[in-house]
Amino acid sequence: MFIRQINDRTKISLSVPQYADELFALTDKNRTMLRQWLPWLDHTKEPKDTRDFITAQLSRFTESKALHTTIFYDDRIAGVLAFNTIDSQNRAGHIGYWLGSDFQGKGIMTECVKDLMKIGEDFFSLERFEIRCAVENSKSRAIPERLDFQNEGTIRRAERVYENWYDHIVYGKIKSC
Ligand SMILES: CC(C)(COP(=O)(O)OP(=O)(O)OC[C@H]1O[C@@H](n2cnc3c(N)ncnc32)[C@H](O)[C@@H]1OP(=O)(O)O)[C@@H](O)C(=O)NCCC(=O)NCCS
Repeated sequence: MFIRQINDRTKISLSVPQYADELFALTDKNRTMLRQWLPWLDHTKEPKDTRDFITAQLSRFTESKALHTTIFYDDRIAGVLAFNTIDSQNRAGHIGYWLGSDFQGKGIMTECVKDLMKIGEDFFSLERFEIRCAVENSKSRAIPERLDFQNEGTIRRAERVYENWYDHIVYGKIKSC
């Protein structure tokens, strides 16, 4: 498959339907943790839902509208990282991510986001990268902060995740800044 080696133990690959069973198993195992921050868990009930999602993302990839990747750590699926949206007109990529809890605390996501931005520059001519995090999501916020994104402000009541409303901090980074 289309793999990028990030370091000795970590690689990312374009997400393909063949990953769906393992990716769904990881999602299911981490459902409670993920459900705190992500709104799609209740629509992801069986491997077919993950397969359908990957297929839809691949279709958007063919139109240069998104890029969904799967992260592997020691050849096990560890999580996902994506340009959820590629805004070609404005040369901007909107980044989203999650990791299974067994794979957190190792610097995996920070390294992979760095590489995704390089892909964005090299293949999609992106010049702006954006990550939106709930104010309370300190682990997610730490990633753009570690990578020297700027805090560009807060969107109030930006997202409803089940019973909770979250304000979002918008983190932005301009190419080579
Ligand atoms: C957001 C999320 C991916 C962050 O995971 P993470 O493991 O903290 O992030 P990284 O892989 O970059 O690892 C950073 C951690 O590894 C540690 N680390 C170890 N080696 C490191 C290295 N070489 N480089 C950077 N960090 C390293 C850091 O100290 C940090 O740990 P700490 O929080 O205890 O200080 C994860 O918490 C998650 O999936 N959350 C649920 C979904 C979610 O919130 N998604 C985002 C929605 S906006």
